Amino acid sequence: MAGMTSCRLCGGQAAYLIEHARMMLCRDCFIKYYEKKVYNTIMKHGMLRGAGRIAVAVSGGKDSMALLAAMNRLVSEKFSGIKLIAIHINLGIEGYSERCQEIVENVCEDLGVEHVIHDLSSREGYKIPDLRSTPLGGRICGACGTVKRYLMNKLAYEIGADRLATGHNLDDVVELLFEFYLRGSVEDLVRVRPVSWSDNPKMVTKIKPLIELTERENMYYAMAQGIPLLDASCPLAEGSRMLRRKRLIRLIEREIPGFKHMLYKSHVKRILPRLEKTVPEPSLMECEKCGMPSLSNMCSYCKLVSRLAARSA
Ligand code: AMP
Ligand code: FES
Ligand code: ZN
Repeated sequence: MAGMTSCRLCGGQAAYLIEHARMMLCRDCFIKYYEKKVYNTIMKHGMLRGAGRIAVAVSGGKDSMALLAAMNRLVSEKFSGIKLIAIHINLGIEGYSERCQEIVENVCEDLGVEHVIHDLSSREGYKIPDLRSTPLGGRICGACGTVKRYLMNKLAYEIGADRLATGHNLDDVVELLFEFYLRGSVEDLVRVRPVSWSDNPKMVTKIKPLIELTERENMYYAMAQGIPLLDASCPLAEGSRMLRRKRLIRLIEREIPGFKHMLYKSHVKRILPRLEKTVPEPSLMECEKCGMPSLSNMCSYCKLVSRLAARSA
């Protein structure tokens, strides 16, 4: 039946299924739908109000590469005057990080976007697998997350960016909500938001323009834009709790279509405004070692790295 595979919007040959909306779209209509969603998310939360320079953190994976391509298109069409700079951290994970960096470099060159590569091994003197020897090594993804969060902010600050955009998608955010609700961690829950405004110059305002798009939609967009897909996943994350929770969420979504969107919307519209009123913003001081914003005398990054140094001494 022709109707089964025709695009809902233009009647052309459908190629992509938007599962939660039970809608089939052709390539061109999908691209328009996707970019409109990113644009609407940006506008709804005023993400680019007053922005001049956006650091886009790219891992080489489908989400952040889709983010870079979509932001590049939107900035040139609707936010002229804003400059985009891609930042990538080479984590030094053998057989994986080389491929990530290659995709980042190729896509940035194709798009004509300036990029900064920060190589952990040559710039910081260690690689992510070296963290295995620290007390945090048992939860290597968590330690890696600390490194990435710290360096993404530092690089964005160093290049004078007033926004740091990441490719966090709906699946990532629902997984985080799941974990924090289970732990009852309200201090973490209040930080799960589309924009984290900051007036501290060393803490760059973070934005998540893909927060309402699913992993699958980002993959479709990357494919539709001819972005090469990474044919490997991080070997250190295999069997992690995070991946197990994501699998579970996929099962729930299959039983309750729209579950992820509902949970996210309830969080942002109903829960978050109340949490923001009751959970105090932590006061930040300067890390005594690196001078970056910190919750205590020494920031979590410097603490982590000092354990590495203690081992090798
Ligand atoms: P993850 O924590 O791996 O789920 O990544 C979340 C977001 O952080 C990605 O969408 C990227 O925007 C950013 N990111 C992750 N890894 C890197 C990396 N190696 N270099 C730069 N940005 C990254
Ligand atoms: Fe950080 Fe895999 S990317 S542990
Ligand atoms: Zn520090």
